[in-house]
Amino acid sequence: MAEAGTLHAAFIDELRDTYDAEKQLTKALPKLAKASSNPKLRQAFESHLQETQGQIARLEKVFASLDEKVRGKHCDGIAGIIEEGKSIMEEDFDETTMDACLIAAGQRAEHYEMAAYGTLVAWAQAMGHTEAAKLLQQTLDEEKAADRKLSGLAEGGINQGAADAAHSDDEDPEPATVGAAAKKTPTSKAKSDNRR
Ligand SMILES: [Fe+2]
Ligand SMILES: [Fe+2]
Repeated sequence: MAEAGTLHAAFIDELRDTYDAEKQLTKALPKLAKASSNPKLRQAFESHLQETQGQIARLEKVFASLDEKVRGKHCDGIAGIIEEGKSIMEEDFDETTMDACLIAAGQRAEHYEMAAYGTLVAWAQAMGHTEAAKLLQQTLDEEKAADRKLSGLAEGGINQGAADAAHSDDEDPEPATVGAAAKKTPTSKAKSDNRR
């Protein structure tokens, strides 16, 4: 058992938090996959789901290497990120915009995980838990790769597709500029606005 108040205790606590986060993500990733229209995006979420299951097994090995019981502790951070992802999926976006938003939601989760695993690796190394550090580094690498894959999909066409869909029916130039309007003699409404 880890002694209370030590970095080792904080490390075990972080491991439990991360274990719970991964478990939450195994429920969220299928929803992100299902909501995706782009087949490559759906595939990316599905393959990261498989990786996530492997990451859970890897964390169990980390607990074992430290002679600690496998236990999760509710991760509020990832719960919030998942909650935000859910609200996005309820929006009435066009398909490509939804895909762009799903990537944004997915990347929030990846960055949260990268922060968690980055800390865990550094702490494991500092305390000389070589086996744990090695295992945690493998997961950190997977999280970074998943994040890069999402960036690749966004920048490889999904963002532009969404932007094109947004502007496909308003090709006319910018409306009258604010500057021109501002030069006009102020109307009584403008005056009253200024007084607010
Ligand atoms: Fe993960
Ligand atoms: Fe991940």
